[in-house]
Formats: sequence, structure tokens, C-alpha cells
Amino acid sequence: MTLMNDTTILPPLIDIRNATVVRGDSRVLHNLSLRIDDGQHVAIVGPNGSGKSTLIKLITRQLYPLAGKDQNPVVEIFGRDRWDVFELRSMLGILSNDMHQDFTADPDLDGLEVVISGFFASKGVPQYQRVSQEMTEAAQRAVELVQARHLAGKRLAEMSTGEARRILIARALVSNPRALMLDEPTAGLDLASRRRFLHSVRQISRRQKTIILVTHHVEEIIPEINRVILIKDGAVFDDGDKESILTNKRFSALFDEPIEVRKSSGGYYSAEIELLAGDRISDLD
Ligand SMILES: Nc1ncnc2c1ncn2[C@@H]1O[C@H](COP(=O)(O)OP(=O)(O)O)[C@@H](O)[C@H]1O
Ligand SMILES: [Mg+2]
Repeated sequence: MTLMNDTTILPPLIDIRNATVVRGDSRVLHNLSLRIDDGQHVAIVGPNGSGKSTLIKLITRQLYPLAGKDQNPVVEIFGRDRWDVFELRSMLGILSNDMHQDFTADPDLDGLEVVISGFFASKGVPQYQRVSQEMTEAAQRAVELVQARHLAGKRLAEMSTGEARRILIARALVSNPRALMLDEPTAGLDLASRRRFLHSVRQISRRQKTIILVTHHVEEIIPEINRVILIKDGAVFDDGDKESILTNKRFSALFDEPIEVRKSSGGYYSAEIELLAGDRISDLD
């Protein structure tokens, strides 16, 4: 529970208990339990295939937990276990690389239309929906917040990856969500776009929106994030304060490789893996 001005008690943003998720023929989350309070920025880190995107999809109700006589799962978001998925998704601004691929594959959508579609949790504005003046104004404000006003009239399919990603973050923000769920949001961005993107995320994290950032890159854990959750083989491997989790020991165990984690300047961290030939690369990918 989070205490707000002595009187209001907010339920946790996310409260998952004993969730097992099956995809295809295999169990990809195993009896996972996790609680994230409203206002608590977190990073979720883990190897490829460990179940991070599955966890995000469980939260956004694109996937459901296995229920049965031996299973008693709970997935409560903002204290509720039943949701109109469109209402839920507009309260959780969502951005992922999957979504980026999906949106840019549509040749017709322009920037502003994509941003407005965040109100309807849809791809583009559904024909039966009316777009109000307030929605258009909110979309213009969101586009300005990510410095993308010049992209409002441009087709998404014709934008650079960095430009399209900025439009998609404006879309995630347009409905004034309580939280932002970012699933590897910098995938495919060059260094300058990545830096700019993370700068926007830092600004947003200070506007009373909870940031949930899935990343492989330790250096993307912005200083505003204090809690790090490690996911391995479909379960929570470790969870705690950034200081106690971002260590050589925990990271080497997480990735089954010797990894050196360093604290760098300004509240950031970095990680390096030692290659057999003595080469060093500065990323975990
Ligand atoms: N659509 C799918 N059908 C079957 N298995 C899937 C599907 N999507 C993901 N998986 C499997 O689920 C596991 C977890 O995937 P995912 O949650 O995407 O991992 P991560 O995001 O950590 O890389 C992987 O083993 C992956 O192969
Ligand atoms: Mg993923």
C-alpha cells in the first residue's frame, strides 16, 4: 500500500500471485508472484527468453494465467482483478518493439493519428469512434512533450526508427496513464536516439507516472529507478534495491557468464562481459 497525504491508501499498481503462463506447449512463467507499488519505478532485467515480455503481457491482459484446481492465480492491477482491457490499457501506457513493428507495417497511419489512437488502445482510430477536440489537443501536447511536433503530419511508415519511437511514446502518454510499461523500448535506436529517448523517460518519471522498464542494458536504468527485478527461467530470480541487485555476483548468476557491473557517474551503472579471446564488449546482448 502507498500512503498519500495521510488519508488515501492506494492499492498496489501490480499484484501478481502464483501466476503460471503457458505459451505454445511450454510453461514460460512458473508460479510467479510480484508486487509493484504505485509510484515505484522498476527495471526488469533478464536473459532472452526468460519471460519478461510474457510478464508484461500478463499485466496488460494479452495473456492470462493458468487456472485450475491446483492453481489459484491472482493478477490484480490497481487493486482490481476484472477489467475492460481497453480501459486498462489506456491506464497503462504501453510501448514495445513488437508494437513498433506492428504500427510501422501500416502504410497509412500518420503521427497524430497514431498518438490519438492511444485513447482507444487501438492501432489507428477505429471508424466508429469520435475524436473530440480535447483528444486532439492532448495528442498535440503529448507530441510536443517528446519534441515531435514536426512529425504529427508525417506517415509513421516513412519515419526513422527514432522518430517513430518518439511518436509511440507520445501515444503511450496521451491518455495520461498512471504507469508506463516499456518493453525494451530502445531496441533498434542509435546512440543519440537512445539518449534522447531515455531523457524523455526521465522527465516522465518525475510526472507521477510509474515507470516499468524492461531492458537488457544496465546503463539504461535511469537514476530515478531504484528497484531492480531479475527474471530467469520464468520466475523472479532476485528483487531488491538497485544497489544490492546490480552486482557482479548476481549478474553473473543471472546470465551464467562472468559479468562485471560498475557504478558510473550520475547514478548510472554499466556492465561488461569478459570474452574468451580477451575482447570486451560493453553490452549484454
Ligand atoms: N507466441 C509464442 N508461442 C510460443 N512460445 C512463445 C511465444 N512467445 C514467446 N514464447 C516463448 O516464451 C518464452 C519467454 O518469451 P518472452 O516472454 O518473449 O521472453 P523475453 O521477453 O524475456 O525475451 C521463450 O521461451 C519463448 O520462446
Ligand atoms: Mg521480450
